Amino acid sequence: MKLGFVGTGALSSAIVSGLKSLPDEATPVVVSPRNEEIAAELATRYRDVRIAADNQAVLDQCDTVMLAVRPQIARDVLKELRFREDHHVVSLIATVSREEIAALVAPATHVTKALPMPMISRLQGATIICPPDRAVASFFGRLGEVIEVEDQNEFDALTVVTATYASYFKLLDTIHSWVRDQGVSSDKARAYISSIYKALANAPDTAPEADFMHLAQDYATRGGVNEQVVRELTERKLFDVLAESLDRVHRRIAGQQA
Ligand SMILES: NC(=O)c1ccc[n+]([C@@H]2O[C@H](COP(=O)([O-])OP(=O)(O)OC[C@H]3O[C@@H](n4cnc5c(N)ncnc54)[C@H](OP(=O)(O)O)[C@@H]3O)[C@@H](O)[C@H]2O)c1
Repeated sequence: MKLGFVGTGALSSAIVSGLKSLPDEATPVVVSPRNEEIAAELATRYRDVRIAADNQAVLDQCDTVMLAVRPQIARDVLKELRFREDHHVVSLIATVSREEIAALVAPATHVTKALPMPMISRLQGATIICPPDRAVASFFGRLGEVIEVEDQNEFDALTVVTATYASYFKLLDTIHSWVRDQGVSSDKARAYISSIYKALANAPDTAPEADFMHLAQDYATRGGVNEQVVRELTERKLFDVLAESLDRVHRRIAGQQA
């Protein structure tokens, strides 16, 4: 594989860093010159990474091209480029549909959507791939987990999960602030919360047969403090409010693809 990136920003940098952290990794990578600083840093750090003169030069030097520009400029950028029939185009642009990308990159016909996350730089997290594709699954499978889906609806629904990261940290921050208000040092509170939540994040792997509700019930001992908090939050419809928010994000994501 000769791999190219059009758009050298946070996500491209994370993918290249993850890839090049693998032992005996020698895939030639060519990146577009923007962002200048990130491209220069990658080319300095990894000997197999080169900076192309422009976006077209990326295409001319690769067989697999990852599109990683922001959605707002994607159409204008792609319209200027001459793709080849044999290019495999992997679009990382979250909110532009595969069909629209396919129309913009003709005569290339092999077009796949992929949604990696920045934690891929540390070989963590999962990449959603649509439609299933052996080469793309094998590439991202070396950098973390892979979830392949058949259609855009599944892709969009899974994409909604990525809208909940900030709320997760807001939850931890609320707990952290409360503990600090009781006179515990910030460092100790942070260390304890981080350690406990890291262990909780492993629970689905250690009990793969249990769904999330089972895990919730396992921790909510009758009459115990976990049961109290989950009951109080449920009574105040906190989880319903979350589900409604996910609905709205879903409509927004699906609307952008239309
Ligand atoms: N970051 C994430 O968590 C994430 C996750 C999933 C999917 N995505 C998708 O991945 C894509 C890239 O996201 P990102 O976070 O990497 O964004 P980003 O950091 O803003 O990177 C985009 C890069 O494109 C460059 N660029 C601007 N105009 C260009 C042009 N005409 N030709 C080539 N490159 C150009 C920008 O360079 P300058 O800095 O010089 O303007 C910037 O470095 C987006 O479509 C996003 O939806 C991102």
